[in-house]
Amino acid sequence: MPLIPCSDGVGEVIDTGPGVSRVKGGDRVATTFFQGWISGKPTFEKVSTTLGGPLDGVLAEYMVLRENGLVHVPEHLSDVQAATLPCAALTAWSALVTQGRVRPGDTVLVLGTGGVALFALQFANLLGAKVIVISSSDEKLERVRQLGSEQGINYTKIPQWGKAVRDLTGGTGVDHIVELGGAGTLQESLQAISLGGQISLIGVLAGPEKALNVRPILMKNVRIQGIFVGNREGFEAMNRAISDHKVQPVIDRIFPSIMCRRHCTSWPRVGILVRSVSLFREDMSGNRVKHLEIKDLVVRGTIEIIYRCILMSNLVINAR
Ligand SMILES: NC(=O)c1ccc[n+]([C@@H]2O[C@H](COP(=O)([O-])OP(=O)(O)OC[C@H]3O[C@@H](n4cnc5c(N)ncnc54)[C@H](OP(=O)(O)O)[C@@H]3O)[C@@H](O)[C@H]2O)c1
Repeated sequence: MPLIPCSDGVGEVIDTGPGVSRVKGGDRVATTFFQGWISGKPTFEKVSTTLGGPLDGVLAEYMVLRENGLVHVPEHLSDVQAATLPCAALTAWSALVTQGRVRPGDTVLVLGTGGVALFALQFANLLGAKVIVISSSDEKLERVRQLGSEQGINYTKIPQWGKAVRDLTGGTGVDHIVELGGAGTLQESLQAISLGGQISLIGVLAGPEKALNVRPILMKNVRIQGIFVGNREGFEAMNRAISDHKVQPVIDRIFPSIMCRRHCTSWPRVGILVRSVSLFREDMSGNRVKHLEIKDLVVRGTIEIIYRCILMSNLVINAR
């Protein structure tokens, strides 16, 4: 502290420093979540380069970034749509593609209808997989059916949804689970997973700690894979798929920044909330040369944490 918050954004390159070759002035680019994780496995150093902490984030009018921390965004997406990609979309892509290797005909279970979940639904559809979604709302289940979910379960009406999911697959279980609940839902996921299946452990919406019977992990030969967003190589691969298949991110509502704090955590929604603010720019050598023009910026499910940072640091946000 003080720290500029927020991790995801899209903007236009205003100018570049000497030696910059990946981007040029006028390019429309997104920031990568980890500025230093380009490819391969993560290391402590690579994942310590997150925008919004420890590095200054995207809630700024202009930014100076290294060219390695930027990717070009799919042309068919608006800035607001493209600003949903750096974290939520890449996390879903890393789970299903980079780590999960989901194949046509597989069945994927997605927990909830938030930002990561709906990208997972869309990517699973692209891969030719069948998707089951669990949600707290029948209305949301109906909406995700229109987005390609074949079956849905209301987890408030059926708290033991693990068995219900298995029943939907004829007793086999699902091949892959996009696990966003964490410790609070993992036992049910272990009920729902097939032998040899993968659980991509991503979120802790239902809590990070709870007693767990680990026997199903051994006896079902389950692979539990932690997912931490992903690297730039994955981001670029994902963008090629998004461009080729004209994927449209699901944006529920766009709020002016001043309203975000009030609505982001409580508004019943499907998909992602985006706020209109703007961002940034680029320079290879790290010098603060000129600045990038700001466009749009995503506020994700972690907005509570972001705002807690803001409150704790007494930060003032200028709303447009
Ligand atoms: N590891 C990573 O790299 C990474 C990256 C991004 C996000 N995350 C984490 O992943 C989680 C989801 O992120 P997000 O941005 O998609 O959040 P989000 O947009 O806020 O999604 C929230 C949705 O999750 C569902 N949900 C909440 N509690 C649930 C439960 N007990 N069981 C099943 N579904 C539940 C709800 O869906 P319904 O309303 O339909 O019930 C809710 O609307 C968060 O914990 C976030 O911190 C991790």
